[in-house]
Amino acid sequence: PASAIEPREGELTVGGVPLSEVADRFGTPVYVIDEDEVRERCRTYRHAFPDAEVLYAAKAFLCRAMVHWVAEEGLGLDVCSAGELELAVTTGFPPERIVLHGNAKSPRDLDTALRLGVGRIVIDSPSEIARLAAAVGPHGHQKVMVRVVPGISAGGHEKIRTGAEDQKFGLSISDGYAQHAIARILDQPQLELTGLHCHLGSQITSVKPYLAAVRRMVGLLARLHEQHGLVLRELDLGGGHGIAYRPGEPALDLTTLARKVRAELAEACTAAGLAVPRLLIEPGRAIAGPAGIALYHVLSVKRTGAHTYVAVDGGMSDNPRPALYGVRYAPRLVGRHSGAAPAPVTVVGRHCEAGDILAADVELPDDIRPGDLLAVPAAGAYHLSMASGYNMVGRPPVVAVDDGHARLLIRRESLEDIRSRDVGL
Ligand code: LLP
Repeated sequence: PASAIEPREGELTVGGVPLSEVADRFGTPVYVIDEDEVRERCRTYRHAFPDAEVLYAAKAFLCRAMVHWVAEEGLGLDVCSAGELELAVTTGFPPERIVLHGNAKSPRDLDTALRLGVGRIVIDSPSEIARLAAAVGPHGHQKVMVRVVPGISAGGHEKIRTGAEDQKFGLSISDGYAQHAIARILDQPQLELTGLHCHLGSQITSVKPYLAAVRRMVGLLARLHEQHGLVLRELDLGGGHGIAYRPGEPALDLTTLARKVRAELAEACTAAGLAVPRLLIEPGRAIAGPAGIALYHVLSVKRTGAHTYVAVDGGMSDNPRPALYGVRYAPRLVGRHSGAAPAPVTVVGRHCEAGDILAADVELPDDIRPGDLLAVPAAGAYHLSMASGYNMVGRPPVVAVDDGHARLLIRRESLEDIRSRDVGL
């Protein structure tokens, strides 16, 4: 599939459908998702990690079509709420292939997980053990894993680093919390501990932190084996695999990751006298991100002394990522061939904040004007799933393109949708 981040100009066709056609038919802002690219990325993972269980991290982007694609491509699912879980299972996803995460699982999350029979629940705090054991009941049975803090700092931004000590996720090895929790789980006959989990963070572009995580986690497996005679069959290394948002940016190379992680795991286990556990991985961004494009119409162009502000019909409510993480995007003009020289502009959103900037200091043709169509590549992950209701503009629809056809997956949130939730006076 064509990677949309290539710096080209003029009509851009994705999944055999010109993007201007999608904009005409479904309006803007709109998210376009290339089904073939999602499926291809799922297959790339299956090929790179043939012996591992690959779980798609639903938080990146989920809808019923996505559930189907992921299921058909043979992946499992990582969910972190009753909402994601219900959507998946009611769409027909096999619950035993689902893992439930969360540092603060609500009673509803746990009840839903038990009622629907999720494969594994990842324990993230000491208090969750007794809660879960009680909910499962003395005669029940539930497979669990433990989320461990490996003490490794990695990730594209401070806000998405989850592997370092002293943060809200998981149980640390260095202060003994992880070992203590594991001992308590072993005391609960209805909980079956299948393995350890860690998630270093997100948008990681180097293999090194994963290798450090393997060593750290195998170190813990070895200690547990010594102290409790415990043999854990599974090691979940989480997700976090980084993608390029702009031309020339690095992405994590999956083949290298797979090869090096496997080698490191084999070596560390052999040295510790352990059998090699089954690997699980949880990519979200790297599956959905590059397969999505956000489309906007330009509503105004304003030239100040220092800048040209190109304002579009969306913004921080459909893409909070530049404001949250300082992420840089590369919007491009689509739908017409300009031929004008590139000029520096700042693409801003329509929201009532000066910080609603989608792309600062990017180059677009000098004759950019209202009515033009802009495409923002790499918008498939953590865009719709993080969209908000700010300024009551309504969240954009999602359109799938495949084999020359475009079809609506999620409709636009209407003003009536917004009004209908407002039930008091
Ligand atoms: N597994 C666990 C336990 C996670 O918490 C996450 C992401 C993943 C897997 C998938 O990570 P990925 O492969 O997508 O990097 N909103 C942020 C990203 C937050 C990631 C949260 N956890 C962003 O827009 O960059």
